[in-house]
Amino acid sequence: MAMSSKIYADWMKEIQDEKIKKILEHIQPQGRILDIGCGAGFLEKRLPNAHAVDIDLENLKKAGAKKVLASGDALPFKSRIFDTVFCIDAIHLMQNKEELERVLSGEGRAIVSTFCNEYSKQEKLRWLKSEFKNWKIQKEFFVGSGELDAVIVCNRYS
Ligand SMILES: C[S@@+](CC[C@H](N)C(=O)[O-])C[C@H]1O[C@@H](n2cnc3c(N)ncnc32)[C@H](O)[C@@H]1O
Repeated sequence: MAMSSKIYADWMKEIQDEKIKKILEHIQPQGRILDIGCGAGFLEKRLPNAHAVDIDLENLKKAGAKKVLASGDALPFKSRIFDTVFCIDAIHLMQNKEELERVLSGEGRAIVSTFCNEYSKQEKLRWLKSEFKNWKIQKEFFVGSGELDAVIVCNRYS
């Protein structure tokens, strides 16, 4: 197992699980769900029906039932088939964000977050929104304590 995967899965477990719990308090995921960059599957523990995608096989092994070894930059799914797409602390790793948009249904929502702290949170939120500047931002908020996540919930205009 790569060191980074193990550290992430073990050391970050409680922090990440708490942030994900808080994110889910802000939204009610609907329909078919995709998690891009699922990591060790903390979201899938709470949403076992989510399709989980990651490039790290060791991480992916822990990620629920519907796991797919693939890159968020080239998703092996038809267009517009997911109603809710998560990308938690992984959007900065994607080169091709059009893929997220491609697989999301017309009315679908994307929940995207990036880690930050008390000092960087406003700047990180601005960056996140700039990455989705052609989208309608429905909600924006922060979760966590100490290690935070800036989160946006957004959907396309058309
Ligand atoms: C910081 S972790 C976040 C994991 C998880 N979303 C969470 O909140 O616990 C980032 C994850 O993105 C994955 N990743 C990196 N590049 C990726 C890519 N191009 N496509 C899919 N996953 C990727 C990494 O393997 C890692 O598991």
